[in-house]
Amino acid sequence: MAILVTGAAGYIGSHTCVELLCGGYDIVAIDNFSNSSQTALDMVERITGKKMRFYPGDIRDKDILNRIFTENEIDAVIHFAGLKAVGESCEIPLEYYDNNVYGSIVLCKAMLQHNCKRLVFSSSATVYGENNPSPLREDMPVGAATNPYGSSKYIIELILTDLFNCDNSFGICLLRYFNPIGAHESGLIGEDPNGIPNNLMPRITQTAIGRLPYLPIRGTDYDTHDGTGVRDYIHVADLAKGHIKAVEKLANSTGVFTYNLGTGTGYSVYDLVRAFEKASGLKIPCKKEPRRPGDIAVCYSDPSKAFKELGWKAEKNLDDMCADSFRWQKNNPNGYRK
Ligand code: NAD
Ligand code: UFG
Repeated sequence: MAILVTGAAGYIGSHTCVELLCGGYDIVAIDNFSNSSQTALDMVERITGKKMRFYPGDIRDKDILNRIFTENEIDAVIHFAGLKAVGESCEIPLEYYDNNVYGSIVLCKAMLQHNCKRLVFSSSATVYGENNPSPLREDMPVGAATNPYGSSKYIIELILTDLFNCDNSFGICLLRYFNPIGAHESGLIGEDPNGIPNNLMPRITQTAIGRLPYLPIRGTDYDTHDGTGVRDYIHVADLAKGHIKAVEKLANSTGVFTYNLGTGTGYSVYDLVRAFEKASGLKIPCKKEPRRPGDIAVCYSDPSKAFKELGWKAEKNLDDMCADSFRWQKNNPNGYRK
């Protein structure tokens, strides 16, 4: 029996593959490398000393999915594959719906056809939209996403819920991630965005090593303790472990289960910059800039449901996250591109 991991070469997928292999699971993986590289998979095998079975390909290709399910006994699927850039999703919304929504439908059809009924899905805190107050709880209203990426995640949550409603033998976990940062402590795998990073941590690390001249502080007049945006940063290794707990839950339960994966603590942009400076011993040049359109002031989770029902909670603190992000960037200044 094996776990099928879609988007396995990506940032969260690669860290989850490490945790799965270390936990004794067999992995069948698929990725089209649209936002990743083969090196990430090689590094996963190097870290763990274990092999996985990899299929290069696209989840929208039903023939390759059919082959995967025919050639392997798949017990459960962890579904990371998709596009994730908020800004880009406003420019090419149809690509986002095609990749994320249609891709998920093709995957679910293959699962149905091959009687595989356990699925862990990468959702996002973005589904809570801008109207709910933090700490965000799973029972709050969702769906008022402010961009096509967020809408695609919400639509997939609806589709998966309908899938269970018509076939109660499915077990589905919808994991709503907050802000994953950090890297594996080996420094061999980490986040490797294309172009100038939109997200805060890779922007900080690339500034630290001199690839970028300064860090723009996007908004200093929010109603927060220091005027900058507050987020729930979570170490990617903790996030990865949450997926193992979700797979374990689905081994003996059917239903649709929604969990926040966050730490429950909010840190501002300046908090993160200070923690990073402490961890790296470097000074990050900052420049105040206007707010980024669509950003909210505060977003952090109530993660207590995941603790109560999965026995999962984040273990690593902000210092660990900063130290690991820095190690990855320092050891790999150009990411996976040598
Ligand atoms: P990532 O881009 O690093 O990983 C996604 C992987 O999927 C990449 O390796 C990419 O090549 C692959 N992929 C994309 N489309 C594919 C397709 N059609 N067929 C096969 N492979 C495909 O992103 P990540 O940060 O690892 O995110 C993983 C998942 O978690 C995504 O679904 C993302 O939306 C979700 N998520 C991420 C964050 C975050 O901040 N990183 C937050 C919330 C949710
Ligand atoms: N920020 C800066 N300068 C930068 C980049 C970001 O000041 O160069 C600020 C933002 O304004 C925000 C905070 O840093 O206050 C965090 O921004 P990120 O872009 O790192 O993260 P977001 O919370 O905006 O979005 C992330 C993911 C989304 C996901 C969301 C909720 O990018 O995909 O978390 O999970 F939907």
